[in-house]
Amino acid sequence: MSALLSVTGLRAGYGNVEVLHDVNVELEEGTLCAIVGANGAGKTTLLMALAGLVPKRAGRVIFDGNDVTRLPSHELVRRGLVLVPEGRRMLPQMTVEENLQVAAAAAGAPGFARIPGLLDRFPILQQRRALPAGSLSGGEQQLLAIARALAIAPRALLLDEPSMGLAPKLVDEIFAIIAAERARGTSILLVEQNARRALALADRAYVLERGRVVLSGTGAELATHRDVVAAYLGG
Ligand SMILES: Nc1ncnc2c1ncn2[C@@H]1O[C@H](COP(=O)(O)OP(=O)(O)O)[C@@H](O)[C@H]1O
Ligand SMILES: [Mg+2]
Repeated sequence: MSALLSVTGLRAGYGNVEVLHDVNVELEEGTLCAIVGANGAGKTTLLMALAGLVPKRAGRVIFDGNDVTRLPSHELVRRGLVLVPEGRRMLPQMTVEENLQVAAAAAGAPGFARIPGLLDRFPILQQRRALPAGSLSGGEQQLLAIARALAIAPRALLLDEPSMGLAPKLVDEIFAIIAAERARGTSILLVEQNARRALALADRAYVLERGRVVLSGTGAELATHRDVVAAYLGG
């Protein structure tokens, strides 16, 4: 297997504050890679930098064999690197279906053709498709945020805290959808504070602390690592 996404020596931040220091991460094709770490560790900054939404100050990002370090966000989306941002940003006044259409537009006609299939995969969105997105529950909005990204048929899906703030039953549903999407062959970079659930699903995982990768290994290795258990698994 070769890495679909390879990040080396990445530095990024805001103003004169550097948040990410020399970060190295690899996402193998068809696998799920988890990034866990405390609030403020730099997880969102990492995904935003990879999506071209926070400038990279140093380092290199290779995606599908090409150097994409300097590409703008829309070009990254066109190539299949798609972020589902933290906080499920969507267009609250527009209906569920219109939200899917706006996202699908980024992928042209094939994107629009995917909408019926997506509504089949997410029955709750099918039921709610004529309602304003802003009227959905938190869990439903998260499903819509994921469905929007899937309308673009991503090669690599970057998920920022998809289970945040959701009731346990919905967390189960979100994780089931993520597992199903990996089973379909989509490569996934999953950022989660729910380390237990993320590591259980991960082929490979990284622990980010204060903008540095301090541990990496298989999901199973990190799930039983003494330091991870103590700091993130309430052991
Ligand atoms: N827009 C911003 N401007 C300035 N500092 C920010 C901004 N966003 C995040 N930060 C800072 O960057 C650090 C990492 O934040 P973030 O990437 O959101 O971490 P995480 O997602 O792991 O909680 C924090 O110290 C945070 O305060
Ligand atoms: Mg975050």
